[in-house]
Amino acid sequence: MNDHRYYAACTLGLEQALHDELKALGAGNVQIRRGACEFRGDRALGYAACLWLRSAVRVQEELLRGRVRDRDDLYDFARSVDWSRSITTLQTLAVDASVRDSFANDTRFPALVVKDAICDQFREAKNKRPDVDRERPDLIAKLVLHADQAILYRDLSGEPLHKRGYREIQHKSPLNEALAAGLLLATDWDKKEPLCDPMCGSATFLVEAAFLAMDRAPGLARSFSFERFVDADLDAWRTIYDDAERRSIAGASKCPTLLGNDRHSGALSIAEIAIDAAGLKGKVRLQEGDCAEFVPAVAPSVVVVNPPYGERLDAPTEELAADWSGLGRFFHQRCQGARAYVLSGNPELTRHLGLRAGNKMPVRNGPIECRWIRYEIGHKTRQADGETAPQPGPADRNDPSS
Ligand SMILES: C[S@@+](CC[C@H](N)C(=O)[O-])C[C@H]1O[C@@H](n2cnc3c(N)ncnc32)[C@H](O)[C@@H]1O
Repeated sequence: MNDHRYYAACTLGLEQALHDELKALGAGNVQIRRGACEFRGDRALGYAACLWLRSAVRVQEELLRGRVRDRDDLYDFARSVDWSRSITTLQTLAVDASVRDSFANDTRFPALVVKDAICDQFREAKNKRPDVDRERPDLIAKLVLHADQAILYRDLSGEPLHKRGYREIQHKSPLNEALAAGLLLATDWDKKEPLCDPMCGSATFLVEAAFLAMDRAPGLARSFSFERFVDADLDAWRTIYDDAERRSIAGASKCPTLLGNDRHSGALSIAEIAIDAAGLKGKVRLQEGDCAEFVPAVAPSVVVVNPPYGERLDAPTEELAADWSGLGRFFHQRCQGARAYVLSGNPELTRHLGLRAGNKMPVRNGPIECRWIRYEIGHKTRQADGETAPQPGPADRNDPSS
């Protein structure tokens, strides 16, 4: 029965990828919102969404929506939810709020009102109340208050969904796993072709690509808040989980050639640890060196890369410009006929690739407005769309076609 309303949040720009993932999961009435999708389905769909969504960072189940004009309205509104369906007095909670144009000036006050309403409900019924825990609560209740319209959710995921469970050590500027997966979903990679990342850092693209190709649910190695809810349907969850496990075993042999390179040995050590932890030992080949010198063991059909770009509108340093020119040389020399996707947060740097840009998908990487730019390698270097040719490097000088 499609009786539950859900809200899945994602990075700005990945809404379409998330929409498509939800449709593939069988979600009903999927509506794209800014940085999110709303959808409907049964309880099992909520669980499956936590386990399978690659591009989402959170899945919330709607508990109640209604009109709230002041503090007392909000208190009564929050009290009218049966919170004993979610947790007991021995469990913990936290309340988050998002507020716009409402009676409250900030998020703290309405969050406190909701917390009081929940705790008072327990105290009245049980003479005890659950503790608040900001670090690892069993229940995260979320209030969204826009003007006088309020919605209360409970977070099914708990820890954000990009935390897959394979990344214990962080690289300096890693790509969020959900963003990496969403960007991969926005390419035309067929999950069988050789794929490479010439500046792979901690190998987020490569691990997410392996999971995608091997039909491995991204949440297989972690737990979710909903498992600890009083009303959790653990039989339904077991069925969903077992099916995902079966699919992952069946897909284990489907890993295509995945190649990574980085000039930073520390980043590659972190990549190796993540690859092992993800159960992908031997499935991803890593090399150390400058990308301009990188010779992939197999010619890649698809290249995905997240080069360093400093601050968005700052003039790029010479060093950054040289890195991007080197990447351009790698494309020209080693990737003829491939499609490349580059995450760029600085249009000044993009020019140094010396390639004609195709589709540019706007996407947010943390606070930085970026573009996920598609290139067809093999088109000769030329000036187009305001993009200029790169400084000629050795490869360009030797290339008879340039
Ligand atoms: C923004 S990080 C990439 C993060 C990566 N996507 C991840 O998930 O960890 C950029 C990476 O490019 C590498 N890099 C920068 N210039 C390079 C070059 N010329 N050749 C090879 N690697 C380079 C850096 O060492 C760094 O690991």
